[in-house]
Amino acid sequence: MKVVDILLFFFLTGVAGCSGSQSALDVHGAPAIHLKDLMTAFVWICGFVWLLVIFALIYALVRSRTGEASTQPDGPWTKIVVSGAVAATGVIITGLTIASYYTTRAIDGSQGDAISISVKGEQWWWRIRYPNRDPALEFETANEIHIPVGRDVRLQLESADVIHSFWVPSLAGKQDLVPGRSNTLLIRAERPGIYRGQCAEFCGLQHSHMGILVVADDEASYARWLASQRKVQSQTMDPEASAGEKVFLAKPCAACHTVRGRSSTGTTGPDLTHVGSRQTIGAGLLETTPGSLAAWIADPQTLKPGNNMPMVPLTSNELRQISRYMDSLK
Ligand code: CUA
Repeated sequence: MKVVDILLFFFLTGVAGCSGSQSALDVHGAPAIHLKDLMTAFVWICGFVWLLVIFALIYALVRSRTGEASTQPDGPWTKIVVSGAVAATGVIITGLTIASYYTTRAIDGSQGDAISISVKGEQWWWRIRYPNRDPALEFETANEIHIPVGRDVRLQLESADVIHSFWVPSLAGKQDLVPGRSNTLLIRAERPGIYRGQCAEFCGLQHSHMGILVVADDEASYARWLASQRKVQSQTMDPEASAGEKVFLAKPCAACHTVRGRSSTGTTGPDLTHVGSRQTIGAGLLETTPGSLAAWIADPQTLKPGNNMPMVPLTSNELRQISRYMDSLK
């Protein structure tokens, strides 16, 4: 492989990170747009300064080689260049500081009523709660936040154990989730879509498997989603799912998970009331399918070593029934 090929490889793999569903350069929300503008200004200004310094350095090196530079004392030009450089440095640093200050203010300022959603970081998943003045309308979900397009959403960020960091690059900057403290982060999506995010603070063994999805829906879809998530599971299920529920209640599963409308009310693990409607399981680890649900339930420790879910011994029949039960919780 030639040197050019290697350089091209690094350039292309670097550029590949600049777009897509998890990029701070592919922005679709006001806070992220402000941050990208600030970053672009920093890169251009600092790049320009860097070029000037390099040219000055090359000029000085060439002069010293050709013997043009002599041992004469500094002339008036030296003073002018030095004071010019000091003044320019002061102006640039002050300018960038002011730009940073206004960007920080802009990304935190919401216009009008912001929707409030609470997000708690846990090793290694996200507990999401949609608060409501009427407790009957409150609900909890996990690892997937739905928001309406064009509305400010204020996330209340907390942690149950260690420091995590909420980062959905296309919508906003990072904000830490710190135990014993409540932080807030304003996010906003200008167009419908699915925006992937990631815990951005090392928080233990499965830090890299702590993904999150923000799904931006138009007003009507968002209202439909809210209504469906508020519903409890009260319908009759098919025989296999029903058998799965019996296994779920008889085994330790129900001690850790809630399925609203049924008799499981554990709160250690994620609320599973509508687990079948979520796009992923295991905090972005696997796409939700009957197969991945079965694989996860059969052996969560192989798929995500160190997580809090133990391996519950099940017969193949029980595994099939319980997976069907999970999949039916839409
Ligand atoms: Cu949570 Cu890294």
